[in-house]
Amino acid sequence: MSRNADDLARLIRSRAGDAPVRVGLVLGSGLGHLADAVEGTAIPYGDLPGFPHAGVSGHNPNLVIGDLEGVRVAVFGGRAHYYESGRGDAMRLPLEVLRALGAEALILTNAAGSMQPDIPPGELMLLSDHINFSGLNPLIGEATDDRFVPMKDAYDPAMRAALQRAAEAEGIPLQQGVYAWYSGPSFETPAEIRAIRTLGADAVGMSTVPEVILARFLGLKVAAISTVTNMAAGMSDEAISHEHTKAMAPLGAAKLERILRRYLRGA
Ligand code: HPA
Repeated sequence: MSRNADDLARLIRSRAGDAPVRVGLVLGSGLGHLADAVEGTAIPYGDLPGFPHAGVSGHNPNLVIGDLEGVRVAVFGGRAHYYESGRGDAMRLPLEVLRALGAEALILTNAAGSMQPDIPPGELMLLSDHINFSGLNPLIGEATDDRFVPMKDAYDPAMRAALQRAAEAEGIPLQQGVYAWYSGPSFETPAEIRAIRTLGADAVGMSTVPEVILARFLGLKVAAISTVTNMAAGMSDEAISHEHTKAMAPLGAAKLERILRRYLRGA
């Protein structure tokens, strides 16, 4: 853990209180309002030196520390994407801080395109695994042997089972599938989508995978849920755009909030 992360954790505790955080939540495009559900302290990323300038519209660059369903959580209202800076490790410091605050688990959310006709826009997908199609890795340059992170069961089986139970209890369909990471920021071509479909991917997006790798490196348990905002390129006549992503994400966000609340009540 870098000294900087410990210093930032101290600064955060001085503003939000000393109780250890149990679960971290990273909110994807159009999902930022979930942070409003938390009773606690909002700290702008700008007050946390080294935190990303979350420059993507649809994100809300605050860290909110507080209680959700009686569980102490840290909600990251904005994430840094590889495509903003060319740095694959842009989320390393926030995740180190999460660990320094005491968290053992991380739930990542994102907006994604679907390659599964039975997971259409407005539905959620629980990630069972991923394909890193970018060829990038946030641990490149890490000098210790800890960089050789095993990625089998990177998406924690017990957390997945608990999230699945929570969805069932809420009567919300939640299929599991494989997420493929393309770097963005341009959307994929139809040929790229055909390629990853053939290789076993069910959804596609521009985030999450580097954070999963970093979180496993840091010893955090991980789960991730996509909210499907569109069928992937070439799979429907609908035009794909960031505006559309932001407009569609709240459809999934309402369901996501119910699942997360139910999950935390049982956590
Ligand atoms: N591709 C990549 N990222 C996305 C998509 C998509 O189709 N939809 C939302 N985020």
